[in-house]
Amino acid sequence: MHIERNRSLAELTTFGLRASAEHFVSCTGVTDVLETLEWHRSHLGMLHVLGGGSNVLLTRDLAGLVLHMGIKGIEEVGREGTAVLVRAGAGVGWHDFVMETLERGWYGLENLSLIPGSVGAGPMQNIGAYGVELEQRFHSLEAVEVASGAVHTFGHADCAFGYRESVFKRRLKGQFVITGVTFRLDTVPELRLGYGAIRSELDAAGVVEPTPQSVSEAVIRIRRSKLPDPAVLGNAGSFFKNPVVSQDVQAALMDRYPEMPHYPAQGGVKLAAGWLIDQAGWKGHDRGTHGVHDRQALVLVNRGGATGAELLKLATDIQEDVEARFAVRLEREVNVLPQTD
Ligand code: EPU
Repeated sequence: MHIERNRSLAELTTFGLRASAEHFVSCTGVTDVLETLEWHRSHLGMLHVLGGGSNVLLTRDLAGLVLHMGIKGIEEVGREGTAVLVRAGAGVGWHDFVMETLERGWYGLENLSLIPGSVGAGPMQNIGAYGVELEQRFHSLEAVEVASGAVHTFGHADCAFGYRESVFKRRLKGQFVITGVTFRLDTVPELRLGYGAIRSELDAAGVVEPTPQSVSEAVIRIRRSKLPDPAVLGNAGSFFKNPVVSQDVQAALMDRYPEMPHYPAQGGVKLAAGWLIDQAGWKGHDRGTHGVHDRQALVLVNRGGATGAELLKLATDIQEDVEARFAVRLEREVNVLPQTD
């Protein structure tokens, strides 16, 4: 275990914001994690776990310890009929993992191609795209309890998955470090083409008989056309979650905006935050160093040299304006560090 002091975090997060960690450790194995947590328990202070850094907004230097998750490895750990259980280290890049599974003929994650971030961060917010959520392919995960160093296994029911939600963002927030995740994939493809953009993209490419590979390629093309590449333009994907409102609220909005996109959801109706922000006139909004992406209003961008505080101010301005216009409160999807609320 090697502890670095005042380590820059800019290149470890996709927003590319300048901030540093007071203490920093990169962990490549479970033993590293156990040792690091032991050090943390004896030194107290804050602990932050950093995976792919694709869902965080750093507003200032982080006091305490940053544990960077670098556990790699992808392996088959079991078979059940045509299903195959595949375990990946929490530090494996999510997209690299999806590509590897496709190459090995293990299907089910193709719609989740090109999502930034790491395998370990996936279950935290139950990543999802194009009609598939991680929880549909989740088998179990291993995590180390911060307070005790005990290794726990969590099954599907233990994770309390929801839309961009899990127990690790709620009741158990900050209490566990995820070290590995096992997925239940299938050697027989079961394509999910229900999400409109996928079918039209396959049609446009002249694909008559879709395969997991061609679906993956279609998703990659769609994402590239809308979402900025963090290597070119700092961003953290969707900054806000799509809000779920009551049917009454949705009906009242539909009277005013009959064309408003909406989807059935657990506990109400899901609205498109991108549409609300776009309607409010924020798409392409430019504040010099930062702004709102011009092809997807849900994405805030660091055009170069922005601070996390400036981006947070922009997010707050958008939240307040959307609430004033539509009486809908947008909730952040991105984690702000250090935490403010
Ligand atoms: N829309 C606009 N203007 C915009 C953006 C969107 O009018 O600037 C409209 C679209 O035309 C569409 C609706 O809003 O009618 C929804 O847009 P889209 O299909 O692009 O998806 P989204 O709801 O904006 C969600 C996820 C994305 C995921 C896509 C595809 C959330 C917060 N975002 O975006 O996930 O890739 O669906 O499944 O759920 C992420 O979480 O970081 C992320 C990128």
